[in-house]
Amino acid sequence: MTQSSMAAEPLLRALMRVRAMLLDDATLVRAVASGRQKGETPDWKRVELRWVDLKAGRHLQVVRYDETQAHTSNHTADGDLREVVDALLDEPFGNWHVETTTEQVQVRVTKKLEAMVNVTARAEAVEVERSHDQAKERLLAEDDPVLLAVGISTADGKVKPTRQAKYRQVEEFLRLLDASITDALKKKALRQPSKADPLRIVDLGCGNAYLTFAAQRYLTHVRKLPVHVTGVDVKQQSADHNTKVAAELGIEADFVVGTIADAVLDPAPDVVLALHACDTATDEALHRAVEWGASLVLAAPCCHHDIAAQLRKARTPSPYAALTRHGILRERFADTLTDALRASLMRLEGYKVDVVEFVESAHTPRNTLLRAIRTGSRVKGGGVRKEYEELVGTWGISPKLAELLDEPVGGDGAALRAAD
Ligand SMILES: C[S@@+](CC[C@H](N)C(=O)[O-])C[C@H]1O[C@@H](n2cnc3c(N)ncnc32)[C@H](O)[C@@H]1O
Repeated sequence: MTQSSMAAEPLLRALMRVRAMLLDDATLVRAVASGRQKGETPDWKRVELRWVDLKAGRHLQVVRYDETQAHTSNHTADGDLREVVDALLDEPFGNWHVETTTEQVQVRVTKKLEAMVNVTARAEAVEVERSHDQAKERLLAEDDPVLLAVGISTADGKVKPTRQAKYRQVEEFLRLLDASITDALKKKALRQPSKADPLRIVDLGCGNAYLTFAAQRYLTHVRKLPVHVTGVDVKQQSADHNTKVAAELGIEADFVVGTIADAVLDPAPDVVLALHACDTATDEALHRAVEWGASLVLAAPCCHHDIAAQLRKARTPSPYAALTRHGILRERFADTLTDALRASLMRLEGYKVDVVEFVESAHTPRNTLLRAIRTGSRVKGGGVRKEYEELVGTWGISPKLAELLDEPVGGDGAALRAAD
């Protein structure tokens, strides 16, 4: 039998009780902060805490969730543990749910900023699970048939040590895809698919289609959304390999050999993916997405040579010489400028755009992802257009995507002419 009690308490006292439970590494099972207090918005949608045993010793693991992704950090008693816990307790969360080995405590903050505290004693004490692997719920299990078929997992369903980074990339991509599809469906920016008319997803520059297959599998098996995937790649070998894998998996998918610029898709896709398509192939993918009127676009750019080469040749406008004097800084600045211009151009074409981290930068330097949801209204004038035109005009550069979309470019006065 479990015993339960409910009582109103001053908020500060209840939070001090939560604090003591969070800091007790012997008894805390997990804690979750979520919701918000009346009229306030916490910095995070949700925060999860648990103690984990890492190689470097026992740490409190804090996973903070925003709209699109999870941010994980680990803290020790010798380091900044108390500051981090106190900062989270200061956030105006509406609920704290804390599980210990012997009880479950629910703190709900009322409109009058009091705490309603519900304590339920466990019938039997539980053990604390502190292994690091439990930290994140996996979207595709290690033994998923897709992971076996694409060679990420072994036949006995374990991720190969050499493929751990790829697995993390697949998981992070699915998390972003999942959140983006949920968001777009909620805003009615993406149509609700049916079996007769599934969501059409194209992966431009799909390579060996790890992410194409993972998306298909996750959306159909976990989200139960009818989808049809198509991969496009210039390499015949990719299409042959991917068609064989699709047959092994019993997945209906098309693989088209051809360039992103010329691929013919009928009907047009609802969702366009372009993950690490080389250099200006990302621009071609964004251009096609606009042409097709795709509802959702996820593009993780790869190498950025085009703007970097233009910056090398162009005169750096005053007072920005320090940004381009040193090769490594110029390359990084070119990456940032390229993606900022892509985001601006997609806004001009009627998309709401976020630029987010794809995988943690420790795993790959190619870790930016542009997420664009179509709102449908092209921007003719105003601040977004002015900002874009001043940027290309100041630097005298011609982004590939602007040329493809027939938008003004810098360097030849076109931007200024168009602004007249
Ligand atoms: C770095 S791989 C990325 C593969 C896959 N998207 C992934 O993230 O695992 C880039 C792929 O894009 C293809 N590619 C590059 N430019 C292309 C273009 N213009 N049209 C079609 N495919 C292209 C290449 O053949 C290659 O397979």
